Formats: sequence, C-alpha cells, structure tokens
Amino acid sequence: MSKLTTLTLTALLLAMGNAEAQTTLRALADAKGKLVGTALPSQYIDNPASMPSGYQPTLANEFNVYVSENSFKMSELLPNAPANPFDVQISDLSTAKIDTLVARARENGVGMIRGHALIWHTQAPSWLTTSVTGWTSDQITAFATSYIKAVVTYCKSINDAVDAPVRIYEWDVINETIDKTTAKDKKRARRSAAKSSFGYRTGTWYDGVADRQAFIDAIFRAARNADPNLRLVYNDYGIEFYGSPKCNFMLNMVGGMVARGVPIDGVGMQCHFQGPDTSGAGGFSSSNAEKFRQTFAALRALGLEGIVTELDLWLQTDSATTEGKVTSQQLALQGDQYRLIVSTALSEPNCPALVLWGFTDAYSWIPWAWPGWGHALPFDRSYAKKPAYEGITNAIKALPAVVENKASSSTTTPP
Ligand code: XIL
Repeated sequence: MSKLTTLTLTALLLAMGNAEAQTTLRALADAKGKLVGTALPSQYIDNPASMPSGYQPTLANEFNVYVSENSFKMSELLPNAPANPFDVQISDLSTAKIDTLVARARENGVGMIRGHALIWHTQAPSWLTTSVTGWTSDQITAFATSYIKAVVTYCKSINDAVDAPVRIYEWDVINETIDKTTAKDKKRARRSAAKSSFGYRTGTWYDGVADRQAFIDAIFRAARNADPNLRLVYNDYGIEFYGSPKCNFMLNMVGGMVARGVPIDGVGMQCHFQGPDTSGAGGFSSSNAEKFRQTFAALRALGLEGIVTELDLWLQTDSATTEGKVTSQQLALQGDQYRLIVSTALSEPNCPALVLWGFTDAYSWIPWAWPGWGHALPFDRSYAKKPAYEGITNAIKALPAVVENKASSSTTTPP
C-alpha cells in the first residue's frame, strides 16, 4: 500500500470514528422518531451571551425539543393585573417571553416547543393571589379560561405562520393539581364515600372554585377551543408508578375526562427521581421500571400519551447543605438507572417525548430545592458527558428502528 493510500485510509477511519463520537442524542432520537428535550433556564432564554462557553454548543447539538423552565409560567406571562381579569386579552400578556424562546429554538434549528404550564398553584403573579380571594367560583373559572384562551391563541398565531419553523405543539394545561389529602380533607372524606389518601390539591389560588373537576374540564375545553391542533396534557410528579395511590387518582381523573369527552391528549410524568444514596443504594429499580411500564399501558388503554416531562435523577451527596461530592460508583449506577428509565419510557408506543429538566449540573434546580442531593443531569458542570449520558444514548440506540408513536385511540395526531 502506498504511503498516500495509507494516509487517506487513516484519515477516512479517523473521520468515521469522529462521526460515531459525534452522534448526539438528537440525531439518535430523530432516527427513532422520538423527541428528546431539555428545559431552558430564563438566564439562557433572556441572555444567551451570559452563559458559559460550553452551554450553547451542547444545547444546540443534543436536543430536539425545548421547554421553558420558568418563562412560560403565569407569573412571567401575566405579571400585571389585566384591565378585566375575567376576560384576559392577548394585549395583557408579556408575549415577549414566548417570542424569545421561539427565537432561541429557531437559532438552534429546533422546531418543537412544549408549553409549561398554564395553570399551577405556584409561580402565580402576586396581583392574582391577592385579588382572587374576593372572586366567586365563576369568576375564577372565567379568569382561568380567558387566560388560557389568550395564551393559546397567541401561540397559535406563531404556529400558523406560513412555513412556521417553530411550533409550540403542546401545553401542560394544569400542573400538580393532585396532592395528599390533608387531615381536614380526611375528616371530610370519612363522612363521604371518597376515602382516597389523594385528592384535589388544596391551598391553591383556585381553591374557591366550587367543583374542582368541572374547573379542570373547563380549562381543557378552553384550550381545545382556542387551538384544536394543540396537544393538551395533565402534568404531575409522583404519578409514574402504577398501583400507587397518587397514580390511581390520576388514572381515575383522566379516565373520567376521557369518558366525558373532555379534550385531553396525554399525561406528563415529571420523573424527578431520587437515584443512589452515598452508599450506592436505592434509586430507580427494575421493579420501578415494571410499574412505570404499566402506567404507560394504562394510559394507552385510555387513548392517552405518556410524556416524560421533567426527568432528572438525583444523587445523594456528601454534604447536607451545599452540592457536595458523589462517588464514581454512584455516577456509574446513575448511568445504568438513566438507561433503564429512558428505555422503559421510549419503548412504549404512546411515549413520543422525553424531556430532561436541564442537561448540565451547572443549571439544575436540585441542589437548592433538595439540599443534600445533586449531580442529577447527564452533563457535569464543565459540560463533560457523565455515565448518565452514555446510559441515555445506549437506551435510545437499542430502541426498535420505528417505534410507532401513538395512543390507541387518540383524537388528534402528533405533529
Ligand atoms: C422549578 C424550576 O426548576 C425552578 O427554577 C423554579 O424556581 C421552581 O420551579 N415541577 C415543575 C417545574 O412542574 O415547574 C418545577 O420547576 C420543578 C417541579
């Protein structure tokens, strides 16, 4: 072999090696017809130039769907009291927040955005929590439905633009409205037939609605009326494992909605999971995986999608206050557990998307929200890939070439 041929061959092999090394989550997921996404902190959305240099390339390379970690919450979209709170208008909204995320997606060649979240008990504007105490049940519903109509109609105008490069294809219509029943609720429940340990969350700004389920039905209908093509999702944590009381309540709730013809397309399972502790014990087990699989199956039987909306897998650190250190054994186990979670979810035909709640440990809510835990995401603080990245990659690679993305009797097709 001539020297030149050897050199050419070497260059070719190197190039092939690089191509393999450069395979990204996004490329792998595209090939399997799945969405793999990340939440974006407001700091990035508002000012990408302020981020460390490793942030942007990793973001742009790795993900094909974005969600705003905070910017689409009501405190951001409706910071000031509207002239008529019972008939919220698009002009009352801070639509610039929406435009900015759409612009970031466009810059990165990402066409899909999940909206999170229209109605939530927290991160509501302070003008609302103050005024709502004087409103009637009908007024609370009028506020919520007109707010949803305004936001969804605005997003629809973006989606409907000719050749729209970016679509806000889905919204979490209500977030975390199921909770453990309080002692007071339990007392009330003892007098009635409903004795579940879970029920509709209390202590919310919308506690004043007379019939909570009628309120939920009304807000989903408002969203569907404003945009018939929008995917509508119920989102919550702690509902992932079939057979748990909270999962049961959720399945009954969404099952009832389906039976009444209320428009709902899927359930978002947040998937904020505790991983291995400092001794390497605990985390996402194969028996969790089986129960997780059964939840997807139960949703499928209702004609609903199951979406992984906020995945992170936390490690217990050696410090109870600041984000301390973890062991290489914990990181390896985290990789195995990420693989199991991702393969369980994305193997299901009614799971079209898996979204991480951020991608780098440098921007993760875990260390400050859950002191003593951290290191929850697939890239470390310096944007180096952790074993978790490998776990996710391997899970996506092992999926069948075409996993049919559908619920059994979904009314609208995903984009
Ligand atoms: C969290 C964000 O990550 C934080 O930055 C913010 O301060 C509080 O909210 N469930 C949800 C998300 O639905 O909106 C939450 O996000 C995490 C838990």
